Amino acid sequence: MRFEVDGTRLDVTPEPGQVLRTLLREHGVTSVKKGCDSGDCGACSVLVDGTPVHSCITPAHRLEGRTVTTAAGLGTPERPHPVQRAFADAAAFQCGFCTAGYVVTASTLDADDLDDRHRKLKGNLCRCTGYRAISDALDGVRNTVCAGAGAAVGQSVAAPAAMRIVTGNEEYTLDVRKTEALLHLAVLGSPHPHARIVSIDTTEAEALDGVHTVLTHHDDPGVLFSTGRHESRLDDPDDTLVFDRVLRFRGQRVAAVVADSVRIAEQACALVRVEYEVLPSVHDPDAARAPGAPLLHADKTTVEHRIAEPARNVVAALHGETGDVERALAGSAATVDGTWTTGRVSHAALETHATRGSVDTDGRLVLRTATQVPFLVRDEVARVFGLDPDRVRVVAKRVGGGFGGKQEMLTEDLVTLAVLRTGRSVQYEFSRRDEFTIAPTRHPMRVRVRLGATTDGTLTAMHVDQTMDTGAYGNHGVGVMFHSVSESVAVYRCPVKRVDAESVYTNNLPSGAFRGYGLGQVVFAIESAMDDLAHELGIDPIELRRRNVIVPGDPLVVTDPHEESDLRWEGSYGLDQCLDLVEDALAAGPVTEAPAMDGPPLDDSPDWATGTGIALAAIATMPPRGHHAHTSVELTAGGRYRIGVGTAEFGNGTTTVHTQLVATALGTTPDRVDVHQSDTDAARYDTGAFGSAGVVVAGRALYAAAQALREDMTARALELVAARTPRTASGVLGPAVVIEPDGVRVGDELVGVDELLAHGPLLAHGTHDGTPRSLAFTVHGARVAVHRPTGEVRVLQSVQAVDAGTVLNPEQLRGQVEGGSAQAIGSTLYEEVVLDDTGRVTTDSFRAYRVPKISDVPRTEVRFAATHDPLGPLGAKSMSEAPYNPVAPAIANAVRDAIGVRPYRLPMTRDRIWALATGVGRPTDGGA
Ligand code: FES
Repeated sequence: MRFEVDGTRLDVTPEPGQVLRTLLREHGVTSVKKGCDSGDCGACSVLVDGTPVHSCITPAHRLEGRTVTTAAGLGTPERPHPVQRAFADAAAFQCGFCTAGYVVTASTLDADDLDDRHRKLKGNLCRCTGYRAISDALDGVRNTVCAGAGAAVGQSVAAPAAMRIVTGNEEYTLDVRKTEALLHLAVLGSPHPHARIVSIDTTEAEALDGVHTVLTHHDDPGVLFSTGRHESRLDDPDDTLVFDRVLRFRGQRVAAVVADSVRIAEQACALVRVEYEVLPSVHDPDAARAPGAPLLHADKTTVEHRIAEPARNVVAALHGETGDVERALAGSAATVDGTWTTGRVSHAALETHATRGSVDTDGRLVLRTATQVPFLVRDEVARVFGLDPDRVRVVAKRVGGGFGGKQEMLTEDLVTLAVLRTGRSVQYEFSRRDEFTIAPTRHPMRVRVRLGATTDGTLTAMHVDQTMDTGAYGNHGVGVMFHSVSESVAVYRCPVKRVDAESVYTNNLPSGAFRGYGLGQVVFAIESAMDDLAHELGIDPIELRRRNVIVPGDPLVVTDPHEESDLRWEGSYGLDQCLDLVEDALAAGPVTEAPAMDGPPLDDSPDWATGTGIALAAIATMPPRGHHAHTSVELTAGGRYRIGVGTAEFGNGTTTVHTQLVATALGTTPDRVDVHQSDTDAARYDTGAFGSAGVVVAGRALYAAAQALREDMTARALELVAARTPRTASGVLGPAVVIEPDGVRVGDELVGVDELLAHGPLLAHGTHDGTPRSLAFTVHGARVAVHRPTGEVRVLQSVQAVDAGTVLNPEQLRGQVEGGSAQAIGSTLYEEVVLDDTGRVTTDSFRAYRVPKISDVPRTEVRFAATHDPLGPLGAKSMSEAPYNPVAPAIANAVRDAIGVRPYRLPMTRDRIWALATGVGRPTDGGA
């Protein structure tokens, strides 16, 4: 079959049933991305004879004689298509994984289509941006300045990778040419939620032509670990094996086949014969803690396992109190008591988890993987397999979205085992279905909140009782639990507090790290309860918060002093400004029209009820118990600077900010800074890109390294000038020293870069451990319309004010806030991974699990508080996770304001809101 791709003729024979996307990628056309296999996400969009199609559902054999154009064929970084230029100028991407497909579809839109963009672009999902910047690109709005212009910090400098991303040239994890030596891995998952393998027979599978090996629990290295990764591996329980004989959730690995192709590997999986002893399973945290419940990890009882109460299925617990809460509640003029529940949420990053492993020419294991934590993966893989960490290299290219989901080790261990067994290169790539059925989700929680207050609204007591379902394994089940009840509780001044929290094993798929790390669920409950308290007292909800939020000088009252002992008040404080900014914005009304969603028209009929609500949140600017960055900055030929930093770029924007910080310290422009990152060979160490640490930890370390380099360059230049003209050194005190693009100017003399480097390398290092931590603040305001007959909630206004300290890159910060808000709107209103009573996921595709489309989300108005944080780089605080946390309660409070009934459950789906609005099955205790 012959056809043309981006101007090049391809002469190929597709496999039977092969689709265009896999055919293109097999032939090195990596500008076409895989986000799903069902035509739902649009990451694989290409033009076939000028018409946009989803190549993942386009049969390859239909391409005979046709012309295919991908993003790489539309334009090049040097000569981009106008749409690609517009996407770069508008900063219309974060991770960029959707962008190549987006620009392909957008390139076909004419002026009329642009008016109908919400319908025309429904088939292209973006999980990161919230779509405002994409819409700006379509309108030709420029939001960035070029990296070679002006002062570095405070400018909306474009991302260094911008032109590569929009033209499909940026490399993601599996964007490497297929080699003949590459093998593929497929996994046979457990059909039972709880079972023991009695016997397993791999004979037939191994006999299949093209199969190289079949791996089972007989091949397990026998070392317990956790898929959750932290600076200290002791933060998570050791409860997981590469292959376990006991299966604790549906889909858990039973066997893995390594074969010449994915198709053969999957065929062979079906030939593995397994005899199971089916064990009783438990799917509800309360039932799991009851006497007689099936125990998931009863055999792991030593302190080394780090499971709080294996005999109760409790992996972690916190029960702490300051003062006497019951007494304080009894003596309060007003009290509130409610229970809120939150659902499972999928990260839905468009790039799925994937690893390609190989052995390099020095015999080292190399893992190219989609991870937020390359160094932590290296160290744990080495530990589990008994390897010297120096013999393992982990590389993350640009990662297609993370949101905490790639702070897990889900594919790397299995690929390592397969590479060690076969000596060949092996690739393991999750499908979209895998992402929904076996990748960890956000922790579902049930949170009871009781508040007490005086008649003037002063809080007298706060009790938070939280139960969370950590699923079959405890990855992040400890950290999320402690974090969920830290800043959410600490942000209020109330001196009498009690927290009860337990993280519980069940036979459900594991939960894990997700943007906000547990805070969002508890903030939803507390901020809803605060709203109820305001109604109870007849005090304006914003005013009630003003009277009770912490202000500088207040102690941070939490019930686990160990957890928060390093939170400090030396940081800046802008919560008061954020409250004012949101109050003003809500009073002014929406600045743009709400998106024209499908559904009933919005009109003045009594069917529609409108309301407003607000909520606030605080979050520490990095994770507790240490986060380390060791960075380097080096002067290189031509007066450029090479930086080595361990953090991965997955849409968080740290790469851009890092270039800005280094450029500022060295008095240059960001385009003269070359970034080498997320490769364990390219930097000394970094804990990883999570907990919003990329700016405040790695950023500070880089700034310190750049300052040190500046001093070294200055000292060398002075020495060289002194040697050249002795009078300059001895006779002239303090000549002006300025770093210029061509070298260092000392007085009137320029010491060129070549001369500087002729006397040895100029390389400086910088480190930062992230402590003490500061606090960032967010306040969200929502205006909604609720359609009583259908239960539809339409967000008419979404506004968020943030205290991120010094704003290093306004457009990027705005994008983080918009993206976090859009993601939160999705999980507030409709996103939910649904399990049946036996732990089976029933929402295993983008059709069943609805991610916000361009037509679904309003523009979030973003406001910045003006503060300067002395703990952050150049006064900045982190702001990747924080925007998510206050959105759900702000919308819930607006719904309550509209219909007079409180929603207790997320997501607030139409059926649930309809039940509330109509009084049918109206709950009083968290039922809807
Ligand atoms: Fe669109 Fe990440 S930028 S999915």
